[in-house]
Amino acid sequence: MSAKLLHFFPTPVIVDEVGDAEALNRELEPLILEQHKRDSGLKLSNRGGWQSKRDFPRWSGTAGRRLLDHASAVASAHTGHRPDRPPPQWTIDIWANVNTSGAFNMPHVHGGSYWSCVYYVRAGEGEGGQLVLHDPRMPALRMHAPGLRFRDSGPDVRTEIEPKSGLMVLFPAWLLHSVEPWFGEGNRISVAMNIRAALARR
Ligand SMILES: [Fe+2]
Repeated sequence: MSAKLLHFFPTPVIVDEVGDAEALNRELEPLILEQHKRDSGLKLSNRGGWQSKRDFPRWSGTAGRRLLDHASAVASAHTGHRPDRPPPQWTIDIWANVNTSGAFNMPHVHGGSYWSCVYYVRAGEGEGGQLVLHDPRMPALRMHAPGLRFRDSGPDVRTEIEPKSGLMVLFPAWLLHSVEPWFGEGNRISVAMNIRAALARR
């Protein structure tokens, strides 16, 4: 058959193995654990575990700065702009997460942001804890013929990314996502970011 399958309107998800992550994580981990001891943190989409306040840049030193710069560069590399407008200037809200066994995140989006980003400082040994990305076309995909699928059109309803130390993931902030319960020994440590664009005047 000569019919061609084209994919339009994709959802960009960027998966990046950060160079020199081992050294970066060796610096970040003790700073995050130290802050965890000092501060009771925030309770948002996380169930169990600890989420820092948004003051990460104040206590994360040069390692935190390197991580911010890397995320900013990845966001810029994957963001286009109209020729009559300047490239985006990013403002980044950044925080740390320390999960213990059984912790998870409810499905949520990051309103008021352009990109969402997560970086794994220590993925930890254990089961579960996958980052789940939910198909933004739900529930439309299931309304008429729930048993049918568009063939060869990518993941169905949801897809999972397996955390790994040193991995950075960026995706549109409007994309619904959640984190499966993680069961393991010790801590799973990650850093999350809201990468916001300064809005240009029309
Ligand atoms: Fe999130």
